[in-house]
Amino acid sequence: MGKLTKGQRIGILTAGGDCPGINAAIRGVGKTAIVKYGMSVVGISDGFTGMINKEYRELTEQDLSGILTVGGTILGTSREKPFKSSGKGKNEIKKPVLIKEHYEQLGLDCLVCIGGNGTIKTAHLLAQEGLNVIGIPKTIDNDVWGTDQSFGFDSAVNIAVEAIDRLHSTANSHKRIMIIELMGHNAGWIALYSGIAGGGDVILIPEIEYDDTKVAEYLVHRVNDNKPYSIVVVAEGIKNPVKDSCSAAQALSKRINELTGLETRETVLGYIQRGGTPSPMDRVLATRYGSAAADLIAERNFGKMVALKNTEIISVPLSDVAGKVKLVDPKDPLVIQAHKMGTNFGF
Ligand code: F6P
Repeated sequence: MGKLTKGQRIGILTAGGDCPGINAAIRGVGKTAIVKYGMSVVGISDGFTGMINKEYRELTEQDLSGILTVGGTILGTSREKPFKSSGKGKNEIKKPVLIKEHYEQLGLDCLVCIGGNGTIKTAHLLAQEGLNVIGIPKTIDNDVWGTDQSFGFDSAVNIAVEAIDRLHSTANSHKRIMIIELMGHNAGWIALYSGIAGGGDVILIPEIEYDDTKVAEYLVHRVNDNKPYSIVVVAEGIKNPVKDSCSAAQALSKRINELTGLETRETVLGYIQRGGTPSPMDRVLATRYGSAAADLIAERNFGKMVALKNTEIISVPLSDVAGKVKLVDPKDPLVIQAHKMGTNFGF
């Protein structure tokens, strides 16, 4: 570790879809920065939009109290991508230029960007423009490359498993096939973990190609085996069998009913997975990430994303992470284990 710098001024922003644990991360960075390093902290409003419009507020240690358990983000968020062209040609206002100007005007020594893949990519591009940047991985999808886990994921899995647990009893009473669709964008992490923890009979994820006739055969086989109800857990990113505007769960529900004659019902859990208070594990992870980010700033070790590797918090270069996505390996030990126990993955 090099010489630690005290009294720096840092900005914190939260960008992309919100998730439980963001406030715990803001608190982790801010409290460590203020209490341990005597830094001053600026909260940027609504992700990169706040940097473009210079919308911010000073954050004191008092402002950071009482937010650990609160869902969402006290700073607000947006899906603004400042490096994406607006298509206005030479009349375009160069957003990265505005961000640089405002970074200078606010007297920042570093900008902490809390976000998912899109945010980390933008953070890397800003670092290339000469800004001191640190990334913190957050997303319920758990698809940020370079870290074993992003915070938000554990809370989302907890919420999804509670929903699946509740589906079991109603499915059993009515002897129905219950299809539950979970979030995850193009990744199947939430569906895989929730499916296993919730005892899903079928788990369909984007990373593993499925055949709906195989799923149907399996469900009929279960009925013939005296298992009159089944739970089918699907990730939102799976191939939609009818390619219309309905959800993958609705389409699959219809298709399974046609193929098997069994009664089907679908549930799309949606934004419930992103709302509310973070799980204890996410509070701990977000706090560890936040504190480690402040340590990196004190060391002036910029251009990094904090990450979890086994049980340790490490840092990885933003350049290694930017532009990559962490998907489920179809040969992931969890997939293999569940398959060995009879869980159907659609093949
Ligand atoms: O990235 C998190 C996520 O919740 C995905 O799981 C989902 O596909 C997407 O965001 C929804 O995005 P929006 O908030 O823009 O509707």
